[in-house]
Amino acid sequence: MYDRMEVSLNNEKCYEIVLAEAFDGLAKEVSNLFDPAVKVCIITDSNVEKLYAEEVSKELKKAFETVCIHSFPAGEEHKRLETVNEAYHFLVENHFNRSDLIVALGGGVTGDLSGFVAATYMRGIPFIQLPTTLLSMVDSSIGGKTGVDFEDYKNMVGAFYMPKLVYINQSVLRTLPDRQFSSGMAEVLKAGLIKDGPFYEWTINGFPEILSMEPSILKEMLYRSIDIKRRVVEADPYEKGERALLNYGHTLGHAIEKFYDFTYTHGECVALGSVAAAYIAYKRELLSAEEYYELRDMFVPFELPITVSGLDIDEILRLTSSDKKNDAKGLKFVLLTKIGKAKIFRDVTSEEMRAALTELLFDESE
Ligand SMILES: NC(=O)c1ccc[n+]([C@@H]2O[C@H](COP(=O)([O-])OP(=O)(O)OC[C@H]3O[C@@H](n4cnc5c(N)ncnc54)[C@H](O)[C@@H]3O)[C@@H](O)[C@H]2O)c1
Ligand SMILES: [Zn+2]
Repeated sequence: MYDRMEVSLNNEKCYEIVLAEAFDGLAKEVSNLFDPAVKVCIITDSNVEKLYAEEVSKELKKAFETVCIHSFPAGEEHKRLETVNEAYHFLVENHFNRSDLIVALGGGVTGDLSGFVAATYMRGIPFIQLPTTLLSMVDSSIGGKTGVDFEDYKNMVGAFYMPKLVYINQSVLRTLPDRQFSSGMAEVLKAGLIKDGPFYEWTINGFPEILSMEPSILKEMLYRSIDIKRRVVEADPYEKGERALLNYGHTLGHAIEKFYDFTYTHGECVALGSVAAAYIAYKRELLSAEEYYELRDMFVPFELPITVSGLDIDEILRLTSSDKKNDAKGLKFVLLTKIGKAKIFRDVTSEEMRAALTELLFDESE
C-alpha cells in the first residue's frame, strides 16, 4: 500500500519518508543517497542502543565501509548542550567531515539532539532520522525542527534543519513501553482533531486494533497522521502561521508538563491540554456539549488522562503567559471550530483558562 511520502519545501522535493516493517530495506534507501565512502555515525540513546544499534549498524555496513555508534544516556534531561558537546567530540575524534552522515536512531530526544548536532557540526552535515517511538514517527521526525533544552527552558536552542531521509520501521513499536505508545497517541488524536475529522473518527473507533498493534492498522494510522503533519509543515515550514495549529492542546499542556516537573509524559499533558482547550471551545459554543464530552472521554481508551489532582491553577496561568510561543500580540491559543478544524485565537482570557483548568480538577467521586 502506501510506503513512501515526499516532503517538499518551497515546492521542491526535499526528502522522503519511508514506511517499512523492518530495517532490511535501510541500506538500499541510504545508498541511493550517499556514496559508499561516506562515514556513518549512528547517534542513539542508551535504551535504544541495547535494542537496535547493532542491527542498524550491521544493515548499514552492507552499503558503507565505516559505521560507528555514539550513544548518550536516555531521557529528556540529557537533551542538552553537554550531550551535544560529547557528540562533537566523538565526530572530531573519528574525523567526520561535512560530507559524512549522522543517523539519528531513537525517539524525539535523539532526533532533536542529533539533528541539532548535524545542523551545527562544521556548519551542517547530512542526517537521516530513524524514529523509534510513536511520537517521533508521527511528529518530531517530520518538519525539520531540531534543538535542545537550555536550563529550565524546553527546546530553547535549536535550528530548522531538514533530514535527507526519514525511515520508519514500525515493528520497533513492539518494544516501546505502553505509556510511551499512549504518549504518541495523543499527537495522533491531535492531528485528526485539527485537520481531519474522518481520521479522528477512524482512530477512536479503531482503538482495539490500534492498541493491539495490528500491522496494517498501525501502518494506516502512521501514514495518515504523518500526512497531516507533512501537509502542515509544507504549507508553513518556519511556523509563520498555520504550523502553529499543531500546538493544539500544547499551550496549557506545556505548562502542565512543567508544573509536574516532567513526571507526566508529553502526550499525557497534551491530552489534558486538549481537554481544557475543548472545554473553552464548548463554552464559546464552537463545539457542542456532546462533542466536548466525546472528545474528552475518547482519550481514556488510549490510557491518557482527562483529569488531574493537585494542579495549582495560578501557577499554570503564570507558566502559560511566559510560554516562548507567545509573541508581541500576546497569547496564541488554538481552539477547535469543529472536529477536524482548528483556528488560532488571540482573545482567550485567563478566566476561560481558569474555568477549563478547574474542569480538569473535577473529581467524579465528589
Ligand atoms: N522536533 C519536533 O518537531 C518535536 C515535536 C514533538 C516533540 N519533540 C521532542 O520530542 C521529545 C520527546 O520524544 P519521545 O516521546 O520520543 O521521547 P524519548 O526520545 O525520550 O523516548 C521515550 C523513551 O522511550 C525509549 N525508547 C525509544 N524507542 C524505543 C523502542 N522502540 N523500544 C523501547 N524503548 C524505546 C527511549 O529510550 C526513552 O526512554 C521531547 O524532547 C520533545 O521536545 C520534538
Ligand atoms: Zn507535542
